[in-house]
Amino acid sequence: MGSGKEPPATPADDDPDARQARYWNSPATAPWVTLQDRLDTLLAPLLAAIMARAEVRAGEHVLDVGCGCGATVLDLAHRVGPSGQVHGVDISAPMLARAEARIAEAGLSQVMLTLADAGRHDLPRGAYDLVLSRLGVMFFGAPVEAFRNLHRALKPSGRLVFVCFRTPAENPYITTALAAAKPLLPEGAVPVPGPEEPGMFSLADPARIRRILQEAGFRTIEVAPHDERMRLGGPGGVADAAEFSIRFGPLTRAMDPQDAALRSAVLGAVTAAYAGLEGPEGIVLDGAFWIVAARP
Ligand SMILES: C[S@@+](CC[C@H](N)C(=O)[O-])C[C@H]1O[C@@H](n2cnc3c(N)ncnc32)[C@H](O)[C@@H]1O
Repeated sequence: MGSGKEPPATPADDDPDARQARYWNSPATAPWVTLQDRLDTLLAPLLAAIMARAEVRAGEHVLDVGCGCGATVLDLAHRVGPSGQVHGVDISAPMLARAEARIAEAGLSQVMLTLADAGRHDLPRGAYDLVLSRLGVMFFGAPVEAFRNLHRALKPSGRLVFVCFRTPAENPYITTALAAAKPLLPEGAVPVPGPEEPGMFSLADPARIRRILQEAGFRTIEVAPHDERMRLGGPGGVADAAEFSIRFGPLTRAMDPQDAALRSAVLGAVTAAYAGLEGPEGIVLDGAFWIVAARP
């Protein structure tokens, strides 16, 4: 794909973007919908952190990239008020359907949702004051082209603000369960994407974030570390936290849902790992993120 050229709206079947679209519409990601309340509670501190950085004002037009089940869309809608607009874009039909239901229930007319790949979709040009994403921009197969698409959608006075993961080693709230399960899983069950491939940790390297955003046309790029203590379970909730951890994220993908014996062994291993880490507040493990802000 040459510089400045727009990617086609629909990728070929073997394209990384097509693989991501299949993944985010597959049973492996269904827990984002079925455990939506719980995930929103877990991720609430990140919502607060990103909104503090974004400083959304009444009347603004905001694009929410990879809006998922709508937690950030709902929050943004209240911030921009009836005179503003929030446009949520996501590649997952089930997650977007959940967002749609929540928005209808809240009776919000300033929200529009689109089922599309935000990196390829023909977004309106120069339309948004803010392009925001909570953990939704790490999955682009061609990130420079995708961020260029987002860049084009911003007003010249606009801003990009997103939160993404730092390294796996800095995120034991995700990797503790994985490490406990790994010896029990078949070889290669937990795929480790290459440094230039899409995946939850694809923007862990701040130099890569800067390079991608610069090549996409962004300037005044700020990459600030943000640490959170992620509460996986309250006191006495080890078994519940373990069950939660194996029901979403990389472990769901790694396990054959039909294999009850493996599931039970993994659950036992994760429970044992968490039991050793339980403190007075329950199972609270470190999470490490970048809060990234840039100007078009
Ligand atoms: C980790 S989830 C985060 C969801 C939501 N932002 C939240 O914080 O609850 C990542 C989301 O990004 C979406 N996504 C991944 N690649 C995308 C793309 N190219 N365009 C739009 N959405 C995408 C997924 O479908 C999923 O909803």
